[in-house]
Amino acid sequence: MTDVIPAPVAAAENGPRGFTLGEGTGIAAGEGAGGTERWLRSTLGAATGLPLPPADADRPDTVRLTVDPAVTARLGLEGYRLTVTPTGADLRGGGPAGLFWGAQTLRQLLGPDAFRRAPLPGRTWRLPPVRIEDAPRFAWRGLLLDVARHFMPKEGVLRLLDLLAAHKLNVLHLHLTDDQGWRIEIRRHPRLTGTGSWRARTKFGHRASPLWEHKPHGGHYTRDDIREIVSYAAERHITVVPEIDLPGHSQAAIAAYPELGNTDAVDTAALTVRDDWGISPHVLAPTEAVLRFYEGVLEEVLELFPSRIVHLGGDECPVDEWRASAVARARVAELGLADAEALRSWFTGHFGAWLAARGRTLAGWDEILDGPVPDGAVVSCWRGHAAGADAVRAGHDVVMCPEQHVYLDHRQAPGADEPVPIGYVRTLEDVYRFDPVPPGLTPAETGRVLGTQANVWTEAMEDAGRVDYQVFPRLAAFAEVAWSPLPAPGERDFADFERRMTAHYRRLDALGVAYRPPTGPHPWQRRPGVPGKPFPGPPPTVPPPATRAPAATGPAPLNPADSNDVPTNT
Ligand code: ACM
Repeated sequence: MTDVIPAPVAAAENGPRGFTLGEGTGIAAGEGAGGTERWLRSTLGAATGLPLPPADADRPDTVRLTVDPAVTARLGLEGYRLTVTPTGADLRGGGPAGLFWGAQTLRQLLGPDAFRRAPLPGRTWRLPPVRIEDAPRFAWRGLLLDVARHFMPKEGVLRLLDLLAAHKLNVLHLHLTDDQGWRIEIRRHPRLTGTGSWRARTKFGHRASPLWEHKPHGGHYTRDDIREIVSYAAERHITVVPEIDLPGHSQAAIAAYPELGNTDAVDTAALTVRDDWGISPHVLAPTEAVLRFYEGVLEEVLELFPSRIVHLGGDECPVDEWRASAVARARVAELGLADAEALRSWFTGHFGAWLAARGRTLAGWDEILDGPVPDGAVVSCWRGHAAGADAVRAGHDVVMCPEQHVYLDHRQAPGADEPVPIGYVRTLEDVYRFDPVPPGLTPAETGRVLGTQANVWTEAMEDAGRVDYQVFPRLAAFAEVAWSPLPAPGERDFADFERRMTAHYRRLDALGVAYRPPTGPHPWQRRPGVPGKPFPGPPPTVPPPATRAPAATGPAPLNPADSNDVPTNT
């Protein structure tokens, strides 16, 4: 009945008349409601021009905010109940987070203009008479932003956090380091940003493209920038999970400190920050000195990020350099490892234990399943549902972010108009129909699916407008996947979602989001002549749940040779 996105668990009409906010409307905030009160006053105050002063809970014309143990018991800490009557709005959260998510619903109910930053003349601010009960399907509702391939300055990240909050998403996974850039200030190793945070030129398009942008690209977050981002996120009940990718994807660090690389195999002093896409062969040396260096890095990372989960990558690490390095071979022998490949898990194991000793938990990409996985580690499953099922059955918690479904760098329509088209075609409807839970899991195994995450790798996104285009509107569909219950039995109702998207496009317009219009890109959103790399053949399809065989693993990579190559590393 409402046009709220993500769809609430239950919504019903509550009498004939709603509540109109006006000059006299106040906010009554109980214990634990101060954050949502401040957010409502600043955000709705700006959009409506209303003062929304503090008020007593028993007075009419009031928005009441209460943390309610009865709601906690029924709906959990992130759940909420919203009741609108002619005398006011009563919002009850299971905890402060639930209240905040309820406030997001309240804003949507006020109409698209509630998403502006200053009032338009002649508007009235009416809440429809509703009674809503709501709680998320998954605890981890994330977005990964790759700020290494293209840097997103702090302002853009703060804006993105507001957009995540508006969609009830609660994790921002920041991919802070890669071959093409190091984006976080580390006091004890200043060259990581001094040298590692910029490159002289950048490949324009997929790496097979002949085009270069001959313009320096760079930037990094200072410690205070990170503190601001983390605290802005926390006010919005969003956890920022930092990722320091190792032992591969490390060329920027090696360019800054050549001794981090395999100096007996290559002249690491000649390396620069990588300016092309694709996976660098230059990886960290498996030495004690490198371990100590990264422990120092991580000490500073832990000071800045309170997140229990700290992501250490572990994906796509070629071992050719280790094979060529006498030092690395000696290390393999000394550690009694079977071969150079096992050095990857040796890195993961070392830092998993190091983090655990500090009360933190390692997360890694699903390549960490190739060896012993540190106790309690969280596995980010990007290579398909099968990786998720394997990880869960091996007893690990997982975050499902399979590239076949929720890599938002992939094109969102077939055809030549898509800017720098890469990877699978994943339309709005495809994302909407994605089910994060690998088919065939038992209920107990399903409990190990912490949630889901959409990943945004930015090789082909040179600025915030391109990020907007790739992320929206698909993030709205993803938000519903992550938050709203799966209608049982069977499929989600895409027609109803499209109906609600009519209002949501207007919200995104009010927010100034440069989304892909349903009819295709605006002329200025196209990138004619800039080569991408669409996968060949028909797009993968997922059978509807009712017809899925228990052991089905979702779509296989269309081009296995590329599975380690495209999409993140175009
Ligand atoms: C990844 O896409 N390499 C995690």
